[in-house]
Amino acid sequence: MILGKSVVLTTAQKELIRGVKGMLGTTLRTVPSPSEPAIVLATFVELQKENAGLTPPQELRKDSFWLTHAKLRGADCVVITSPSDRGVIYGVFALLRKISLGEDVHNLDEVQQPYAPLRWVNQWDNLDGHIERGYAGPSIFFENGHVRADLQRAHDYARILASIGINGCAVNNVNANPKLLTDEFLPELARIAGVFRPWGLQLALSIDLSSPKSVGDRDTFDPLDARVGEWWKQKADQIYRLIPDFAGFVMKADSEGRPGPASYGRTPADAANVIARAVKPHGGVVFYRAFVYDHHLDWRNLKNDRARAAYDIFHPLDGKFDENVLIQIKYGPIDFQVREPASPLFGGLSRTNEAIELQITQEYTGQQRHLCFLAPLWKDILDFDMHATDGSTPVKHLVAGHVFDRPTGGFVGVANVGMDTNWMRHPLALANLYAFGRLAWNPNLTPGQIVDEWTRQTFGDDPAVVQIVDRMQLTSWRTYEDYTGPLGVGTLTNILGPHYGPGPESSENNGWGQWHRADHQGVGMDRTVATGTGFLGQYSAAVQKLYENVADCPDDLLLFFHHVAYTHVLHSGKTVIQSMYDSHYAGAEAAEQNVTQWEQLRGKIDDERYLEVLGRLRYQAGHAIVWRDVICDWLLGLTGIPDAEGRVGQHPDRIEAEDMQQQGYTQVDITPAYFASGGKAISCSAAQPCSASFHFKGNSGTYDLDVQYFDLKTGVARFSVLVNSLPVDEWQANDDLPSAKPDGDTSTRRTIPAVALRSGDEITIRGTPDGGDPAMLDYVAIHKAQESGH
Ligand code: GCU
Repeated sequence: MILGKSVVLTTAQKELIRGVKGMLGTTLRTVPSPSEPAIVLATFVELQKENAGLTPPQELRKDSFWLTHAKLRGADCVVITSPSDRGVIYGVFALLRKISLGEDVHNLDEVQQPYAPLRWVNQWDNLDGHIERGYAGPSIFFENGHVRADLQRAHDYARILASIGINGCAVNNVNANPKLLTDEFLPELARIAGVFRPWGLQLALSIDLSSPKSVGDRDTFDPLDARVGEWWKQKADQIYRLIPDFAGFVMKADSEGRPGPASYGRTPADAANVIARAVKPHGGVVFYRAFVYDHHLDWRNLKNDRARAAYDIFHPLDGKFDENVLIQIKYGPIDFQVREPASPLFGGLSRTNEAIELQITQEYTGQQRHLCFLAPLWKDILDFDMHATDGSTPVKHLVAGHVFDRPTGGFVGVANVGMDTNWMRHPLALANLYAFGRLAWNPNLTPGQIVDEWTRQTFGDDPAVVQIVDRMQLTSWRTYEDYTGPLGVGTLTNILGPHYGPGPESSENNGWGQWHRADHQGVGMDRTVATGTGFLGQYSAAVQKLYENVADCPDDLLLFFHHVAYTHVLHSGKTVIQSMYDSHYAGAEAAEQNVTQWEQLRGKIDDERYLEVLGRLRYQAGHAIVWRDVICDWLLGLTGIPDAEGRVGQHPDRIEAEDMQQQGYTQVDITPAYFASGGKAISCSAAQPCSASFHFKGNSGTYDLDVQYFDLKTGVARFSVLVNSLPVDEWQANDDLPSAKPDGDTSTRRTIPAVALRSGDEITIRGTPDGGDPAMLDYVAIHKAQESGH
């Protein structure tokens, strides 16, 4: 039963009934008054009208809840209460979570408080339905320049977010389209707010600072011009008339070409405050992003450093922002790399509210094609002690506002879910959204606890499933780091393109400032105070001490802070170059082992998800080899230092396509050469299918065949493999990989398991081009079949 009336409490009640029915098969009845044992949902004020004696064991802050039991009107009741309706929903989800995890729910007496008041997700959705850095289909909010007619998915998303305690969602790209703020568009946004509302989720918007001029009637957007202030005030009033529970704004300004206060010689504080004052009477907030930097830096100047930008710009403004402004700080000083130190700005603001920005969408970490569970990374950052005062000041305390007793603070996750049924593309990637919500609610949870909750709620309690999925998730970040960018060098991806496959040279010789400064002698950015960019000087003395001396700096961040010779010996005892080679091999090996581990779960989970994950893990294992080879070949070419283990550049099990007998195919040089084995591939530009053949020279037996080809997005080529003219496999190159060229994004492996081969057999690969995809082939590798036989 519910005490009091509200749409949120009604939602909470329905959700409880639905959850209990789904998990326990019991149908709860709704009753107006408890004459028998009941579950009571009520705000604390309503509850006290029934039983004035009830006192919670601790103060109940906003959004917190108390799960307890009490006698109400003579009946023994389970009680879920909170100062707000929204807290009751969170309490219901907490109870359901306990039931699903098999915890004892008798005699509950538990208060849970959220760690920080603001726990938001940002969606980078554009009005045309495309999502910037979104990997799971089109927007659930927008299509063709409007809010979608059918908002069922937005409703379902609000439910997901409520289940993990998220209370705000900015629905549009931080590279904001000012059209959202027009009189015509705002009523459309009110519809989204309407489907969020029953879940206690508040709508927020990303805004463009130039709006008063670009969509308003002002001839300026100077934040200090009174007419501009008036425009923002009227706009805010209008928004709140349509959306009374509107949460506030997110702002990206003077960053990557976005308009900002610098156009008028004004500061971020000037810009943030004028808007904050407009929403203040309505209880709204402004998240001003600290991701502000010059992307035209002179790379020849070794003192230049993009990592310095956020602190250099925002630290001097500490204390100048209004009380309802939060500075939204990416976890690291660069940009969501696979590993970065905590941003020094977390320790650089004591009179300003902060929020941490984490990236759930895996822009630099495999784009939800690769498994990469990010909670361990986030947790390292959240627990990192900035030594901002004499006491301990981990990032989580700072962003929650606890250290300097700030009025507010928050956690923001860039989520970018899409229309894909499973929201994130990779079925296992949803664990990242879950982990974000759980850490925002309670950053003292461990990644192990979080993933274990997720796995059991997602796949059930079978110990084999739980053990394998948990282990795969918990090791996946390190695995990904190992084959992409170890030792703090950054994700060695194509930073000028889609940020997906390997592209180690793209970081250099341009103004973007994601430099690793690899040359033939050494690698890494010298960010020391003594000889480098001075970035380390932005940290407290205690943090500087951890990193300033190359001898003390932990291996995992060495190349972020220091430029060292490849022969420099790490704490691990290995040289830098050998460690890099070894990491790339270890990472690729671990990705392969995930496939075999997962195969043990056949029959233990439903076929649909089993096969979907298996396909993705196989793809990842193949692409990890692409990463490994590109980076290792690049390093070998750059340094001339061979791999002590003799692996790099040596592939005795490969038959290069260019060495095969070809019909119709022509040989092409791939540039840079490291994108193809041997630097060459073959391409079919004929109208007919082309083919390439070779004779198997090994001993007779059963083998796995890996066919490495390029799957360009420009068409759907087809391949088939024949042994002595008999077909053994055929497939379409129909993935939507993010490139139209033969490169590290498109190089793809197809494994044909357990093929019986006799010495001398002729193996033929036939490629049929389609559109702009010329069925390019790189090599075939032949290995003894794996025990499991796939
Ligand atoms: C990254 C990302 C951009 C995004 C930007 C931001 O650079 O690649 O797509 O706009 O971050 O966070 O503003």
